[in-house]
Amino acid sequence: MTDTRAAGGEARAKFTRMDECTQEDWNIIIPALFEHSHTAVAENVLQQLNTLEGDHGGFAVDRLSHCLQTAHLAEQDGKDEEYIVCALLHDIGDVLAPLNHPEIAAAILKPYVKPENHWMVEHHGTVQGYYFWHFIGMDRNARDQLKDHEYYSHCEEFCAKYDMPAFDPDGVTPPLSYYEPLVRKMFGPGGINGATLPAE
Ligand SMILES: [Fe+2]
Ligand SMILES: [Fe+2]
Repeated sequence: MTDTRAAGGEARAKFTRMDECTQEDWNIIIPALFEHSHTAVAENVLQQLNTLEGDHGGFAVDRLSHCLQTAHLAEQDGKDEEYIVCALLHDIGDVLAPLNHPEIAAAILKPYVKPENHWMVEHHGTVQGYYFWHFIGMDRNARDQLKDHEYYSHCEEFCAKYDMPAFDPDGVTPPLSYYEPLVRKMFGPGGINGATLPAE
Protein backbone atom coordinates (compact mmCIF):
# COMPACT_ATOMS: atom_id res chain seq x y z
CA MET A 1 0.00 0.00 0.00
CA THR A 2 1.29 3.47 -0.92
CA ASP A 3 2.45 5.54 2.04
CA THR A 4 0.49 8.80 1.81
CA ARG A 5 2.11 10.39 4.85
CA ALA A 6 5.65 11.76 4.96
CA ALA A 7 7.80 11.40 8.04
CA GLY A 8 6.53 14.73 9.34
CA GLY A 9 2.95 13.62 8.95
CA GLU A 10 1.94 15.88 6.06
CA ALA A 11 -0.51 14.47 3.56
CA ARG A 12 0.76 13.10 0.27
CA ALA A 13 -1.06 12.31 -2.97
CA LYS A 14 -1.69 8.62 -3.60
CA PHE A 15 -1.16 8.35 -7.35
CA THR A 16 2.02 6.94 -8.84
CA ARG A 17 1.17 7.93 -12.43
CA MET A 18 -0.69 11.08 -13.34
CA ASP A 19 -3.43 9.43 -15.36
CA GLU A 20 -4.61 7.90 -12.09
CA CYS A 21 -4.74 11.10 -10.04
CA THR A 22 -7.92 12.15 -8.27
CA GLN A 23 -9.53 15.32 -6.95
CA GLU A 24 -8.48 14.22 -3.47
CA ASP A 25 -4.87 14.14 -4.60
CA TRP A 26 -5.08 17.66 -6.00
CA ASN A 27 -6.77 18.92 -2.87
CA ILE A 28 -3.51 17.96 -1.17
CA ILE A 29 -1.12 19.21 -3.86
CA ILE A 30 -2.53 22.66 -4.60
CA PRO A 31 -2.31 24.05 -1.04
CA ALA A 32 1.18 22.59 -0.75
CA LEU A 33 2.16 24.27 -4.02
CA PHE A 34 0.97 27.66 -2.81
CA GLU A 35 2.65 27.16 0.54
CA HIS A 36 5.88 26.41 -1.33
CA SER A 37 5.52 29.45 -3.55
CA HIS A 38 5.07 31.65 -0.50
CA THR A 39 7.95 30.28 1.51
CA ALA A 40 10.58 28.56 -0.59
CA VAL A 41 10.81 30.58 -3.80
CA ALA A 42 12.37 33.68 -2.25
CA GLU A 43 14.95 31.61 -0.40
CA ASN A 44 15.77 29.61 -3.53
CA VAL A 45 16.17 32.83 -5.51
CA LEU A 46 18.56 34.20 -2.90
CA GLN A 47 20.47 30.93 -2.86
CA GLN A 48 20.80 31.03 -6.65
CA LEU A 49 21.98 34.65 -6.56
CA ASN A 50 24.66 33.57 -4.11
CA THR A 51 26.01 31.09 -6.67
CA LEU A 52 27.01 34.12 -8.76
CA GLU A 53 29.49 35.22 -6.11
CA GLY A 54 33.11 34.68 -7.12
CA ASP A 55 32.15 33.90 -10.72
CA HIS A 56 33.97 36.60 -12.70
CA GLY A 57 33.82 34.95 -16.11
CA GLY A 58 36.70 37.25 -17.08
CA PHE A 59 34.84 40.43 -16.08
CA ALA A 60 36.29 43.00 -13.67
CA VAL A 61 33.58 42.23 -11.11
CA ASP A 62 31.93 38.92 -10.30
CA ARG A 63 28.40 38.24 -11.49
CA LEU A 64 26.81 38.85 -8.11
CA SER A 65 28.50 42.25 -7.81
CA HIS A 66 27.26 43.10 -11.30
CA CYS A 67 23.68 42.26 -10.29
CA LEU A 68 23.98 44.22 -7.05
CA GLN A 69 25.43 47.24 -8.85
CA THR A 70 22.67 47.09 -11.45
CA ALA A 71 20.02 47.04 -8.70
CA HIS A 72 21.78 49.84 -6.84
CA LEU A 73 21.96 52.09 -9.90
CA ALA A 74 18.24 51.54 -10.53
CA GLU A 75 17.43 52.24 -6.91
CA GLN A 76 19.52 55.42 -6.85
CA ASP A 77 17.69 56.58 -9.96
CA GLY A 78 14.34 56.26 -8.18
CA LYS A 79 13.01 53.08 -9.75
CA ASP A 80 10.31 51.23 -7.81
CA GLU A 81 10.73 48.01 -5.84
CA GLU A 82 9.52 45.73 -8.62
CA TYR A 83 12.03 47.24 -11.04
CA ILE A 84 14.86 46.91 -8.50
CA VAL A 85 14.12 43.21 -8.04
CA CYS A 86 14.15 42.76 -11.81
CA ALA A 87 17.51 44.51 -11.95
CA LEU A 88 18.85 42.32 -9.17
CA LEU A 89 17.71 39.10 -10.84
CA HIS A 90 18.32 39.94 -14.49
CA ASP A 91 21.48 37.78 -14.74
CA ILE A 92 20.50 35.09 -12.22
CA GLY A 93 20.61 32.50 -15.01
CA ASP A 94 24.19 33.27 -15.99
CA VAL A 95 25.62 30.18 -14.32
CA LEU A 96 22.83 27.89 -15.54
CA ALA A 97 22.26 29.02 -19.11
CA PRO A 98 24.97 31.54 -20.01
CA LEU A 99 23.98 31.72 -23.68
CA ASN A 100 20.28 32.34 -23.05
CA HIS A 101 20.35 33.53 -19.46
CA PRO A 102 17.76 36.33 -19.84
CA GLU A 103 15.05 33.70 -20.31
CA ILE A 104 15.81 32.20 -16.88
CA ALA A 105 15.28 35.46 -15.00
CA ALA A 106 12.28 36.37 -17.14
CA ALA A 107 10.58 33.05 -16.41
CA ILE A 108 11.14 33.37 -12.65
CA LEU A 109 9.78 36.92 -12.60
CA LYS A 110 6.88 36.55 -15.04
CA PRO A 111 4.04 35.76 -12.55
CA TYR A 112 5.07 38.61 -10.28
CA VAL A 113 5.85 41.62 -12.49
CA LYS A 114 4.27 43.92 -15.04
CA PRO A 115 4.56 42.94 -18.73
CA GLU A 116 7.00 45.77 -19.51
CA ASN A 117 9.39 44.62 -16.79
CA HIS A 118 9.11 41.00 -17.90
CA TRP A 119 9.87 42.01 -21.49
CA MET A 120 12.77 44.16 -20.32
CA VAL A 121 14.42 41.26 -18.52
CA GLU A 122 13.65 38.77 -21.28
CA HIS A 123 15.27 40.91 -24.00
CA HIS A 124 18.05 42.65 -22.11
CA GLY A 125 20.67 40.33 -23.63
CA THR A 126 19.98 41.40 -27.20
CA VAL A 127 19.58 45.07 -26.29
CA GLN A 128 22.75 45.04 -24.19
CA GLY A 129 24.53 43.32 -27.09
CA TYR A 130 24.82 46.72 -28.76
CA TYR A 131 27.72 47.47 -26.42
CA PHE A 132 29.85 44.40 -27.19
CA TRP A 133 28.52 41.96 -29.75
CA HIS A 134 30.74 43.46 -32.49
CA PHE A 135 33.75 42.26 -30.46
CA ILE A 136 32.59 38.64 -30.48
CA GLY A 137 31.60 38.25 -34.11
CA MET A 138 27.94 39.16 -33.65
CA ASP A 139 25.77 41.99 -34.95
CA ARG A 140 25.63 44.76 -32.35
CA ASN A 141 22.58 46.17 -34.11
CA ALA A 142 20.58 42.96 -33.82
CA ARG A 143 18.45 44.80 -31.29
CA ASP A 144 17.08 46.96 -34.10
CA GLN A 145 14.70 44.08 -34.86
CA LEU A 146 13.04 44.84 -31.54
CA LYS A 147 12.82 48.62 -31.93
CA ASP A 148 9.15 48.75 -32.89
CA HIS A 149 8.05 46.91 -29.75
CA GLU A 150 6.13 49.02 -27.26
CA TYR A 151 8.53 48.08 -24.45
CA TYR A 152 11.78 48.57 -26.37
CA SER A 153 12.63 51.98 -24.89
CA HIS A 154 11.93 50.60 -21.41
CA CYS A 155 14.51 47.86 -22.01
CA GLU A 156 16.97 50.20 -23.74
CA GLU A 157 16.90 52.50 -20.72
CA PHE A 158 17.56 49.55 -18.38
CA CYS A 159 20.64 48.54 -20.34
CA ALA A 160 21.99 52.06 -20.89
CA LYS A 161 21.56 53.32 -17.35
CA TYR A 162 21.86 50.29 -15.08
CA ASP A 163 23.06 47.05 -16.72
CA MET A 164 25.78 48.45 -19.01
CA PRO A 165 27.65 50.57 -16.40
CA ALA A 166 27.53 47.94 -13.62
CA PHE A 167 30.96 46.37 -14.09
CA ASP A 168 32.93 48.73 -11.88
CA PRO A 169 35.24 47.33 -9.17
CA ASP A 170 35.03 50.76 -7.53
CA GLY A 171 31.27 51.02 -7.95
CA VAL A 172 28.85 50.97 -5.03
CA THR A 173 27.98 47.33 -4.35
CA PRO A 174 25.44 46.76 -1.57
CA PRO A 175 25.57 43.35 0.13
CA LEU A 176 22.95 40.88 -1.01
CA SER A 177 21.52 41.03 2.53
CA TYR A 178 20.43 44.60 1.78
CA TYR A 179 18.04 43.33 -0.90
CA GLU A 180 16.89 40.17 0.90
CA PRO A 181 13.75 41.79 2.39
CA LEU A 182 12.77 43.05 -1.06
CA VAL A 183 13.20 39.60 -2.60
CA ARG A 184 11.08 38.06 0.16
CA LYS A 185 8.46 40.76 -0.36
CA MET A 186 8.33 40.10 -4.10
CA PHE A 187 8.00 36.33 -3.90
CA GLY A 188 5.99 36.14 -0.70
CA PRO A 189 2.19 36.22 -0.36
CA GLY A 190 0.65 38.78 -2.66
CA GLY A 191 3.91 39.95 -4.17
CA ILE A 192 4.87 43.61 -4.43
CA ASN A 193 1.94 44.43 -6.69
CA GLY A 194 -0.52 42.09 -5.06
CA ALA A 195 0.19 39.58 -7.79
CA THR A 196 -1.17 36.10 -7.23
CA LEU A 197 -0.54 32.82 -8.93
CA PRO A 198 -3.28 31.54 -11.24
CA ALA A 199 -6.27 30.05 -9.40
CA GLU A 200 -4.97 31.24 -6.06
FE1 LIG B 1 22.58 39.67 -18.99
FE1 LIG C 1 23.77 42.23 -16.77
